[in-house]
Amino acid sequence: MLHLLYKSSYVFMLFYYAIIPLGYLTKWWVTIEKMKGNSTILVTGGAGYVGSHTVVELLNNNYTVIAVDNLVNCYSSGNEKPEALKRVEKITGETVTFYDIDIRDKEALDKVFKTHKIDAVIHFAALKSVGESVQIPLTYYQNNIGGSSTLFEVMANNGVKKLVFSSSATVYGDPQFLPITELHPTGQGCTNPYGKTKYFVEEILKDLCTSDQEWKVVLLRYFNPVGAHESGLIGEDPSGIPNNLMPYIAQVAVGRREKLQVFGADYPTVDGTGVRDYIHITDLAIGHLKALERMFSPCFKSWKAYNLGTGRGYSVLEMVKAFAKASGKPINHEIVGRRGGDIAECYADATLAKIDLDWVATRDIEAMCRDTWNWQKKNPKGFHSS
Ligand SMILES: NC(=O)c1ccc[n+]([C@@H]2O[C@H](COP(=O)([O-])OP(=O)(O)OC[C@H]3O[C@@H](n4cnc5c(N)ncnc54)[C@H](O)[C@@H]3O)[C@@H](O)[C@H]2O)c1
Ligand SMILES: *[C@@H]1O[C@H](CO)[C@@H](O)[C@H](O)[C@H]1NC(C)=O
Repeated sequence: MLHLLYKSSYVFMLFYYAIIPLGYLTKWWVTIEKMKGNSTILVTGGAGYVGSHTVVELLNNNYTVIAVDNLVNCYSSGNEKPEALKRVEKITGETVTFYDIDIRDKEALDKVFKTHKIDAVIHFAALKSVGESVQIPLTYYQNNIGGSSTLFEVMANNGVKKLVFSSSATVYGDPQFLPITELHPTGQGCTNPYGKTKYFVEEILKDLCTSDQEWKVVLLRYFNPVGAHESGLIGEDPSGIPNNLMPYIAQVAVGRREKLQVFGADYPTVDGTGVRDYIHITDLAIGHLKALERMFSPCFKSWKAYNLGTGRGYSVLEMVKAFAKASGKPINHEIVGRRGGDIAECYADATLAKIDLDWVATRDIEAMCRDTWNWQKKNPKGFHSS
């Protein structure tokens, strides 16, 4: 048998089938490991709710973070860094470089790319109120679509072609089947301008990937982010009346609002109230790191969409009950009529993220309520109270 090994063809085969792939594997592994600890990530909307929690996880994993935000929806006292980012620095003991920049400002953005060697961008910056988007659609299109395309242009000009985009389950519209997989049609039932901006930006990114093979894009379709960092130092800080259920419940619990209105108890669900897939903000933040790692792997090409959810839905009344238990406060609520545009049920199939990204949501509804309450209790007026 041994003499066969001396035959050049066998040596040749060994080389091609074993050594070369081994070499590639090592190279990939080395690239991924190197990217993990030493990359610089530009985070747009970095002072916002999802942005600030993601920055914490990035810093904890040794990424360098450059945050850009125009402060349109976050609190800052005077000319200083936004309060949320100061708290992020407190949590992590690391510094965040911050620029007060509007992503529609091409020159200012370009300067940031010229100043820092940026490896990838996580793009959170957007206006996100569904109701407001119906009132002022042009502002939403201008900010979310105009801002995004300016950002992509500046990225391309600077040779930075890796992006993680904050998309939303709203791109699926009224679900045609449940749980929702990434193969569910998008853009068909988007009833409001906000949802449409998410869909359009996804389409722009797909076109970009078609036009230029160097682009690598991950679309993360969030379900319903709730909760806060376990330290209670950062959390969701809505200005005005909260649009989302969880912050509303939390403000009722802390005595800032009198009672919660439950819109509709006659849906075909477990108890008649709307069912959503709530996901803890820390799980969501970690999803972004997993997406980056996946994108840095040399075998990742073009674009890919992933649902980030738990795969399980909870009704409004189940959330009210869980929050009352976590906070020890009764949540005053009343059932009123349905609200236009609301759907009965929506929850994710998050299998693809598990397979491809090695990501699963591990924090349950108790943790979501406990951490929201911890944040609310310590900061009854959000970041303003400091
Ligand atoms: N929170 C949710 O329920 C949810 C669900 C799905 C998708 N998303 C998306 O995730 C992203 C982050 O959401 P969030 O909840 O953290 O919202 P947020 O409002 O807390 O954060 C967005 C940040 O972007 C900034 N910003 C807005 N327009 C900007 C511009 N033109 N230039 C620079 N900065 C700008 C705001 O000041 C804010 O700090 C958004 O794109 C949102 O649409 C959020
Ligand atoms: C981050 O860097 C520190 C110091 O070099 C190291 O001890 C730690 O293991 C790193 N953390 C991660 C998640 O890579």
